[in-house]
Amino acid sequence: MIKVRILNEGTIKELLDIKNVIEVVEQAYTLKNSNQANLFPIVTHVFEADKADMDIKSGHLKGKANVFGLKLVSWFGDNIKKGLPDVIGTIMVFDGKTGIPLGILSAEYITGMRTGSAGAIGAKYLARKDSESLLMVGAGHQAFFQIAAALTVLNNIKKVTVYDPINCKFAIEFCHKVKSKLKNEILSKYKDDKIYSEKLAKKFDITFVTTDDIEKSTGEADIIVTATPSRKPLIKKEWVKKGTHFTCIGSDMEGKQEIDENIFSIARVFVDDINQAANVGETEISIKKGIITKESIVGEIGEVILGQVPGRVSKDDITIFDSTGIAHQDLLTANYLIKIAKEKGLGAIVEL
Ligand SMILES: NC(=O)c1ccc[n+]([C@@H]2O[C@H](COP(=O)([O-])OP(=O)(O)OC[C@H]3O[C@@H](n4cnc5c(N)ncnc54)[C@H](O)[C@@H]3O)[C@@H](O)[C@H]2O)c1
Repeated sequence: MIKVRILNEGTIKELLDIKNVIEVVEQAYTLKNSNQANLFPIVTHVFEADKADMDIKSGHLKGKANVFGLKLVSWFGDNIKKGLPDVIGTIMVFDGKTGIPLGILSAEYITGMRTGSAGAIGAKYLARKDSESLLMVGAGHQAFFQIAAALTVLNNIKKVTVYDPINCKFAIEFCHKVKSKLKNEILSKYKDDKIYSEKLAKKFDITFVTTDDIEKSTGEADIIVTATPSRKPLIKKEWVKKGTHFTCIGSDMEGKQEIDENIFSIARVFVDDINQAANVGETEISIKKGIITKESIVGEIGEVILGQVPGRVSKDDITIFDSTGIAHQDLLTANYLIKIAKEKGLGAIVEL
């Protein structure tokens, strides 16, 4: 009889902490770029245009973990009227030696934590070490995780400016709540580690402000993180100062775009996966318009972490990390969760 561990959102929230997820995601990137991982083609299906669709991202990670699996995310727009969530994500993890299913997990919190971690890893390796100001474009679900992870890995951030392209009220509300959310959801995980907890509390105790002047805020930012579903550029090339780092999160589907494609012509461009970035990432439009080619992408982030490719080479470089989101981030985080849930006897075990 095969036994599978099922982890719901509540248990996952209790078990995951940002420091460990950042380490796990960094490990996923290094496995990818040391021939220890395969990414399978994305499957997408539209059930009804603008009403219901789904995608499946899947892959295999060798190394110590040796797991394969998938994340299926479905969007059924009418669910809201029925009192149901419109976006639902499920992760399935399988043993790479036997093919036996190990776990079925809710994907929402994992996605937030692994996506925030990815963005932060981009900034850690590519932004200037003396970066003090971060501009967050987008004030939705991902914005919180981006800020939490970035402040965890970066050491000199003094100010976070939040911009919402749709309604500045969302950014104001976001800033109003962010400090207590960081304390309750992120910092609370380290109450048994006084030294780390105090260090992190200091990093979180900075200025959060909103802006409705994206041009001015772009010119003042050392790091810009974008996390919106925009389909047109929100930031123009002329506004960007030398030395800026961009982490682009929102573009994870053909046609999405958050920054001026011409910024790619003056930037050192890094991605999580070259093919995925060229097909569905922020890089897509700049390649389609002939501004850069796939070959001019400097490298994948795993290559930078492994020291195979230089990241930033000068303080004046403009760097871009196009983080499209790869299955390995989900699978390794889910596998980590399955292990700690097993140790703590958490989750439901179901016999298949
Ligand atoms: N790369 C990855 O790994 C990854 C992972 C998860 C989500 N995403 C993507 O990140 C984006 C943001 O996700 P989220 O969960 O934070 O969404 P959300 O709906 O919670 O927040 C979206 C934010 O963008 C703003 N916005 C909405 N429509 C917009 C538009 N047309 N133009 C500009 N701004 C707009 C909203 O006001 C809000 O501030 C989405 O595109 C999502 O698909 C990427």
